[in-house]
Amino acid sequence: MKKKVLGALLSVAMVATLLVGCGGGDAAPATTEAPAAEAPAADAAAPADTAATGSGKKVGVAMPTQSSERWINDGANMKAQLEALGYEVDLQYAEDDVQMQVSQIENMIASGVNCLVIASIDSGALVNVEAQAKEAGIPIIAYDRLLMDTDAVSYYATFDNKGVGTAIGKYIEEKKDLANTSETFTIEFFMGSPDDNNAHMLYDGLMEVLQPYLDNGTLICKSGRTSFDDTCILRWSQETAQQNCENYLTGFYADEDLDICATAFDGFAYGCKAALEGAGYTEANWPLITGQDAELMATKNIISGKQTMSIYKDTRLLAEKCVTMVQAVLEGAEPEINDTEQYDNGKIVVPSYLCTPVAVDKDNYEEIIVEGGYYTAEQLAE
Ligand code: BGC
Repeated sequence: MKKKVLGALLSVAMVATLLVGCGGGDAAPATTEAPAAEAPAADAAAPADTAATGSGKKVGVAMPTQSSERWINDGANMKAQLEALGYEVDLQYAEDDVQMQVSQIENMIASGVNCLVIASIDSGALVNVEAQAKEAGIPIIAYDRLLMDTDAVSYYATFDNKGVGTAIGKYIEEKKDLANTSETFTIEFFMGSPDDNNAHMLYDGLMEVLQPYLDNGTLICKSGRTSFDDTCILRWSQETAQQNCENYLTGFYADEDLDICATAFDGFAYGCKAALEGAGYTEANWPLITGQDAELMATKNIISGKQTMSIYKDTRLLAEKCVTMVQAVLEGAEPEINDTEQYDNGKIVVPSYLCTPVAVDKDNYEEIIVEGGYYTAEQLAE
């Protein structure tokens, strides 16, 4: 069933699970402290064309969790870039606890922040606290995840979320030469949290590429779970992804190998890796595993062959774009916007800047990630 297709691909874009279901996510231990984490080997300084105008103003930055490396980097980059401009920063992590995030934002409002930057846990659960901010005259910028059902959000900085899905789909399509092959490949899906708009957009982009191959039988999903509802994983839980993968392997792949784990997140790729190792998969039958975020561990797994690809999202760039939005709402500057159509949150279409996600694998990680200064060769060798 395996077929080797050579060549690097640099794609620029642009369940209710088997037994566990979307409700199976576990929250990480609760803490409100911002981490002492380092940003990627990055120049986290303020954008070059901006002046240090933030003096005396305070920005509340609400991040979802420290359980995944990307958010630690996001928070560190935002804090460094805002502080370089003279802003005071209150950075809080809510450890995937929605109520904790609500309280953190309430406290930020009470403490007199001038602007809020929010990467939500549940994008529709902050409507009341967002209304409080609006009432208090505090502008809100949505960070990476769209804030739904509110007119209190001014701007949105993110990556092209549908483009992430398309890039993952195209990677699978090209690596397995799906358009030309006469072989068939088994595939299982591990999609993101249903309360995160990004997860839906990623799924749509992915299926735009892969659905034709499921329809014509080139791709075979033996669990039959291909819909978003059947493959989404609440709060992006790595444990649930592992459990789902274990269940799929036991239930459907006793006599035949699983060829492709189409996952939406590096954390899911780690879960699949653990399940596959537990089931006795080796280099000889290791599947193609996708991911998202190009976390340090994922990049190491790509180098060692335990993960095939990830989507690199330069959190330095995202922070830079978001900081220009903070400046716009506080100083009357003009932020760069490149999308005024896609991100309708149910109340308004939020003016957005979409950064470009990039597919990385063994063939291009050095050029994209190391030469791009995201991780050093030493970090990857540790
Ligand atoms: C982000 C992804 C991330 C996921 C899990 C999504 O909202 O866009 O980059 O992998 O959350 O943290």
